[in-house]
Amino acid sequence: DPAITDLSKDAAARAATLLVEPGMRLGLGTGSTAAIFVRRLAQRVQDEGFALRCAATSKATTELATSLGLKVEELDDIGWLDLTIDGADELDPDLNLIKGGGAAHLREKIVATASDRMVVIADQGKVVEQLGQFHLPVEVIPFGWQATRTLVTRALDRLDLTQRPVLQRMRDGKPLLTDEGNFILDLALEAIPDAYELADELSSIAGVVEHGLFLNICQLAIIGRPDGSVVELR
Ligand code: A5P
Repeated sequence: DPAITDLSKDAAARAATLLVEPGMRLGLGTGSTAAIFVRRLAQRVQDEGFALRCAATSKATTELATSLGLKVEELDDIGWLDLTIDGADELDPDLNLIKGGGAAHLREKIVATASDRMVVIADQGKVVEQLGQFHLPVEVIPFGWQATRTLVTRALDRLDLTQRPVLQRMRDGKPLLTDEGNFILDLALEAIPDAYELADELSSIAGVVEHGLFLNICQLAIIGRPDGSVVELR
């Protein structure tokens, strides 16, 4: 039920705003849960009138945050962040993640790893025993992307993951371009028995800019419930 999911996302987002302290350098995530957080944060900043320095993980989040009165700066103008709050498509018990359902995982990973802490906010439906039910996004450079796809396929074969990567995200009849002007290949793997091994294989392919596996990056997940309560996973 989408309404129940929204209540859960809001519970997680509200709890996350309490982690924000005046003067913090803060990374803002992308996606529907992160958008709820940005709204809640803007409200809190307005009510309490404190200063923040924010960097965003996408053009969409920059626009949303700016429209709500939050000042968004370039990551390099801030330099380093205290905290990043973002959503996720899947998270496992070790707090490893799949991200990039919104095609923003490249900037999301840069922002998250340029932060002292990364906190994920999500509803219970995102929590899984093993990653892989959600398609794994892989951002590739348009130049030679079909050769890159061949190399990705071979890497998957070596790991006995036999799905073929597909370029399926389209906009106006053309492949969707990310904020950085790249394509996204989606890997429907169903299960990823060894996420570290897969991450290493994908990262070693020329033409792959970034995959959506976030391993050992998130320190805390706040899982919202429809009744407004939250559970924290560490
Ligand atoms: C964006 O690229 C993603 O990593 C999002 O963080 C992820 O898709 C979660 O989005 P929702 O909060 O909309 O599920």
